[in-house]
Amino acid sequence: MPTDNPFQDPLRFERQVPPCAIVIFGANGDLTKRKLLPALYRLAYDRRLASGFAVIGISRTPLTDDQFREKMRDSVEQFSEDTKLDEEVWADFARGLSYVAGDIGDPALYKNLADKLAQVEAERHTGGNALFYLSTQPSQYAPIAHGIGAAGLGKGNGWRRLVVEKPFGHDLSSARELSDRLHEVFEESDVYRIDHYLGKETVQNILAFRFGNGIFEPLWNRRYVNHVQITGAEAIGVEGRGAYYQEAGALDDMIQNHLLQVLATIAMEPSASFQATSVRDERSKLLRSIRPMTSAEVLENTVAGQYGAARIGGEDVPGFRQEQGVDPKSRTNTYAAVAFFVDNWRWAGVPFYVRTGKRLPKRVTEIAIQFNTAPLHLFNQDSGDAGVNLLILRIQPEEGISLKFLSKRPGSGMTLRPVSMDFNYGSSFGERSPSAYETLLLDAIIGDPTLYTRQDMVEASWSVVEPIQNTWKETETDFPNYAAGSWGPAAADAMLARRGHVWRKP
Ligand code: BG6
Repeated sequence: MPTDNPFQDPLRFERQVPPCAIVIFGANGDLTKRKLLPALYRLAYDRRLASGFAVIGISRTPLTDDQFREKMRDSVEQFSEDTKLDEEVWADFARGLSYVAGDIGDPALYKNLADKLAQVEAERHTGGNALFYLSTQPSQYAPIAHGIGAAGLGKGNGWRRLVVEKPFGHDLSSARELSDRLHEVFEESDVYRIDHYLGKETVQNILAFRFGNGIFEPLWNRRYVNHVQITGAEAIGVEGRGAYYQEAGALDDMIQNHLLQVLATIAMEPSASFQATSVRDERSKLLRSIRPMTSAEVLENTVAGQYGAARIGGEDVPGFRQEQGVDPKSRTNTYAAVAFFVDNWRWAGVPFYVRTGKRLPKRVTEIAIQFNTAPLHLFNQDSGDAGVNLLILRIQPEEGISLKFLSKRPGSGMTLRPVSMDFNYGSSFGERSPSAYETLLLDAIIGDPTLYTRQDMVEASWSVVEPIQNTWKETETDFPNYAAGSWGPAAADAMLARRGHVWRKP
């Protein structure tokens, strides 16, 4: 039966992929090297791209097309985690790669780009379609859009779209202003704001889990859910990104975008259909239901942290203030924990604890849904109620889902012990999962914005994050307040203890 619901369409992943040119601004940067090129190469390897496909790299450094191809080959070899470079596929893919050098502020760059686009349209049959991908310093987003518009490249024989990397603004007014500037050239429907967490298979699976099954949704509300913990922990430090990170901090770098999108996916209402507009409307509605905090509430419901030096596994690890490019007196947060409240009928009164940080004990992203426990204890329980009636959705690594409950220990007595029922993505499907960038790039080429964030969603996130930023600016926290390799500041434990809760140790 025909359906206009893309998630009900068995051919969703066989969708018609149109020909196009992808124009990458910032082609010499880290993201292009580590994520974009490996993802595009993998799509080519899987024969997911149309034959009329081209990539035009743009950056300041002068390079010939061949030098650019060589660099991109190195990046595919180095960063394609699970894809070997196949000479035949590469040769075909590399023929579509070319390069234009120039300065973002110089109109000559856009003139040269126009010539190059005309050339690839004639030679590679890209149909005049172009996807402009902004992977540069955020301060260059608006000037690039302006340059594209001034050269008349915002419109063409085919479609024109703009993909914008995070951060999208640094507060509500800058995000609005950036949207206004982009809208001078591109309609909102052609602006694709990327949040790579939405492209992760396991984040998409939250929707499948919730709305593809009938057994969980009846429990998914304030009557049965005691609280939710969303953890995005990283073991790494700032890895040479000290200068950028010093400006952003954990709250802006992870919570404003990735983790609030995860929260929205966990808490949103089912959408009327799974068309882009419906799904994005529900996400947006949920984000707008998160209570923006007063200053007093921020002090009660948030904790900022910064790591100090420590010895981990026999190695000396520097504190944040000793990292390269970081001010020795920096007040940037490298850890953030927030208790969010969703003011709607489903979730009123249920805390959504969100935490993230660098230099925590391990890399783990997970959502733990703590259900109410039994109202009375009829049996002996080895561990009380700790860690049971708990559903854990593991986003990464070891992607999967576990349900923890109590079970009778074998023997004559009636003693209960926590056990776990586990689903593991890897072993259950035995298939490779596409990377988030593969999924999202293909969606942008096809013109499916379901997994991209819209202007109203970004603004709703900033509206809840901004009051936290403001109160933190006015509050002097004694940094560093956690040791590298630990689970964060003691104040974060105290914040949960005030409501009788404890952070999980994933
Ligand atoms: C990026 C942040 O958006 O996400 C980084 O800027 C962070 O600081 C990264 O390390 C985490 O992504 P992932 O996919 O490794 O969890």
